Amino acid sequence: MVQNTEILFTRRSIRNYKKDMHISDDMIEFIVDAAMAAPSARNRQPWHFIISRDRNKLNKLSEVHPYGKMLKDASMAVIVSGDLKIEDRESSLVQNCSAATQNLLLAAHGIGLGGVWLGLYPREERIVALKNMFKLPENILPITLISVGFPDESKPRNNNFNPDRLHFEQWS
Ligand SMILES: Cc1cc2nc3c(=O)[nH]c(=O)nc-3n(C[C@H](O)[C@H](O)[C@H](O)COP(=O)(O)O)c2cc1C
Repeated sequence: MVQNTEILFTRRSIRNYKKDMHISDDMIEFIVDAAMAAPSARNRQPWHFIISRDRNKLNKLSEVHPYGKMLKDASMAVIVSGDLKIEDRESSLVQNCSAATQNLLLAAHGIGLGGVWLGLYPREERIVALKNMFKLPENILPITLISVGFPDESKPRNNNFNPDRLHFEQWS
């Protein structure tokens, strides 16, 4: 278990997983609870989380997503989707679902799982493929795909701080 704010810096994109590992419903509920704690415009919380642990579907997803090969060894995929009936502004859906995606990744890392964010939106061919595969209704727009598993790699803590990107009061 990673403590406190350290998870912000030690979370890394994990693409290698231990094979044939099961993620429990309790773990899923915890990380989705964290995702749903994300901020959202007008507090509409317009998200849905489609979970897939089915090996055949994970294999298919690894072929559907051009940069999603890691899904063939993942324990789970999460499709973070926005509901256009709850939030009709697509730009808000994207931002809300992105905030939820980051929370989910951090929570997964916090309980010893590892994951990686795979972009879907605005790639029409990926959106259509996912909508068909998971039988999503018309008003549900898939925004991100997250591959999750038990890490089989370790990466150093992020050290991205760049003082050139920090501006106080005005640009320079
Ligand atoms: C919008 C978005 C799309 C991404 N798409 C992919 C992807 O298709 N495949 C992949 O392996 N990683 C993807 N990533 C993960 C990035 O490559 C990763 O976050 C970045 O290299 C920094 O590494 P870190 O997460 O370990 O800090 C994506 C991340 C974001 C935010």
